[in-house]
Amino acid sequence: MKDFVFCTPTEVVFGKNAESKIASRIQKYGGTKVLLHYGGRSAEQSGLLPQIREHLAQHNLPFIELGGVVPNPRLSLVREGIDLCRREGIDFILAVGGGSVIDSAKAIAFGTRYPNDVWELFDGKGKVTECLPLGTVLTIPAAGSEMSDGCVITNEEGWLKRGYSTNLARCRFAIMNPERTFTLPAYQTACGVTDIMMHTMERYFSLEDDMTVTDAIAEAILRTVMEAAPIVLNNPNDYRWRAQIMWAGSLAHNDLTGCGTVGDWATHHLEHELSAMFDVAHGAGLAALWGSWARYVMSVRVSRFVRFAVNVMGVENDFTDPEGTALRGIERMEAFYRSIGMPTSIPELIGRPATEEEILTLADKCCRQDTHTEGNFKVLYRKEMEAVYRLANK
Ligand code: NZQ
Ligand code: ZN
Repeated sequence: MKDFVFCTPTEVVFGKNAESKIASRIQKYGGTKVLLHYGGRSAEQSGLLPQIREHLAQHNLPFIELGGVVPNPRLSLVREGIDLCRREGIDFILAVGGGSVIDSAKAIAFGTRYPNDVWELFDGKGKVTECLPLGTVLTIPAAGSEMSDGCVITNEEGWLKRGYSTNLARCRFAIMNPERTFTLPAYQTACGVTDIMMHTMERYFSLEDDMTVTDAIAEAILRTVMEAAPIVLNNPNDYRWRAQIMWAGSLAHNDLTGCGTVGDWATHHLEHELSAMFDVAHGAGLAALWGSWARYVMSVRVSRFVRFAVNVMGVENDFTDPEGTALRGIERMEAFYRSIGMPTSIPELIGRPATEEEILTLADKCCRQDTHTEGNFKVLYRKEMEAVYRLANK
């Protein structure tokens, strides 16, 4: 088991009526003037935003609004938010939405206190030393940004999707009411489930083989989410199982499932290029790639895939044929993705095969013109990245 530091400072307020705690939490963390940041129409239509506006007003918390965050959140809106925060003297950001809104809020929080252009951080040319405090009202369990140290932004100039991670980015609090996820469309629910599973699996597929507790937690999260998904797809208002998914989403990406492991993350970073190029949902992109990645890297440590097949996917262990057992686990994972409406190939994801030129561009961007590798379970260079994209393109 590798040495590790586990830092998860976000205060979670979970359950029905959790929204009634928003103002007290903002005040607890020093907020006196708030940027209310949100996405498209969903939070307005569900009545959540009107409720929050009223709640903030009742508690004498002045706020300015900035909506319009789109999935795969854009740098241009982040820059607009930074200007707004500086101009208005904002000292707290409240992100109402999912990963895209929270990440946009994080980037605004960095940028407001960063002397140069905020993209420098995502480009690997700068580092934050301070940022505005932020909190969130989560409406979709998926990206795990409510407790993670990550922030992923898309620069429209060149369609570059890049992440920046720091503990300074962790939300001070996360308000999580599973009832708020009842309105999620089936596709977004399934994308979220996929992302939650992938955050767990990126850390689970590690060359470290002796992290018993962490493995057990990871396997429980995966099994729970797989049990919950068809139930909520069938009955979107099922509080109990919406709640399981919501809490699993945070545990999957607050680093708990990474204690003592060395994560892989190749599928994630290969996917970020897909969602940057085709503007697809992150979870769907992950489902489209994972099986191809798994087949490509499996031979590095078949035993890990056998453990996954048996403990997570319920495959019977054929001790005479570890490769066969491992492959059946991958096949069952893909069958699960298909059963919840997720694609398991690039053609299914974008409606046609990617062209050869697109494959080369995806790999070129992912390896940053041969200056960068991906993955730890198996290190991928440009050629290997191309190979995974090609496998997924069949
Ligand atoms: O914009 P609105 O109208 O709110 O609609 C959203 C959006 O279209 C809708 N939605 C959200 N809550 C809803 C709802 N619709 C009905 N009812 C509700 N309660 O769902 C759509 C997707 O929202 P989005 O925030 O984009 O989803 P998600 O949470 O999956 O976030 C995806 C982004 O997070 C990044 C992804 O790359 C992607 O950009 N990630 C961030 C990570 C992090 N910060 O740690 C890690 C992840 O691996 C991921 O890369
Ligand atoms: Zn993800």
